[in-house]
Amino acid sequence: MSATPVLASTREELSALLAPARTGGRRVGFVPTMGALHEGHASLFRVAREHVAGGPVVVSIFVNPLQFGEGEDLDRYPRTLEEDLKICEREGVDVVFAPSVEEVYPGGTPQVTVDPGPLATILEGRTRPGHFRGVLTVVAKLVGLVRPDVAVFGQKDYQQLALIRRMALDLNLGCDVVGAETQRETDGLALSSRNRYLDDEQRQQAVALSHVLMAAQEAAVHGVDVALDSARAELRESLGVDLDYLEITDPQLQPLPAVVPDGTEGRILIAARVGPTRLIDNLPITFGTPPEARPAAPTQGDT
Ligand code: PAF
Repeated sequence: MSATPVLASTREELSALLAPARTGGRRVGFVPTMGALHEGHASLFRVAREHVAGGPVVVSIFVNPLQFGEGEDLDRYPRTLEEDLKICEREGVDVVFAPSVEEVYPGGTPQVTVDPGPLATILEGRTRPGHFRGVLTVVAKLVGLVRPDVAVFGQKDYQQLALIRRMALDLNLGCDVVGAETQRETDGLALSSRNRYLDDEQRQQAVALSHVLMAAQEAAVHGVDVALDSARAELRESLGVDLDYLEITDPQLQPLPAVVPDGTEGRILIAARVGPTRLIDNLPITFGTPPEARPAAPTQGDT
């Protein structure tokens, strides 16, 4: 049985709880979340644990109003603190920081925010203007309060992860940023707090997002265009999925040319509505013939 995590709801409580780790020179790991925790979050807590050499793991639970646009799901976003605390306890999280909106934004809506730059104008940024400004602003504030050595984020929010890495570089965030693999249901659906909005029929339909990505992965041996065509063909077969975007980029989310050398790495990303619920997913993708299937280079003596 793990010890119950200590709950802090103010900056002072958080700072007092982390003081012994700071004076003792112990590493601090941090996983920012919006709560409604699931196994995907639990896997992030475990990754954080691997990076702190026995130091404390801090999880924040804060539904950040600044990253929700008008008409988005701020009001109905699931708030499940009691169940969240049970998951944190099971996973051996040391400190849960669950502040109020006033605690995080004591001056009201902030006048100074983080400009996320050009990476926030593509993909999610096109449909959700202002979203990444809100995400980066709150992450910068939370990191400023926790002052972790390492902060862990899921690859499911791939563009968010890329932007947080870029912020860490450009603004000297002072911690390492680690990306952890997406966790999936057995049929492939990526775990997400928003999956709980889906009714049974929508849940069946939602699995299509991962199948579309996998179709591209399988066809990637034939190049970028064929991979994208296969993904689109899979999408046409998928009922109830209202596409926002389906794109293949390089791992830094920059455009890829149609023809790339064997072994080129990329990322395929999708966003779609299933019923009223907007879901996102992505997968790594490698183009061309895999090294093990390439003909061996002729060695000396071969004719
Ligand atoms: O990924 C999330 O849950 C949120 O965007 C984050 C990083 C906790 C910021 O509110």
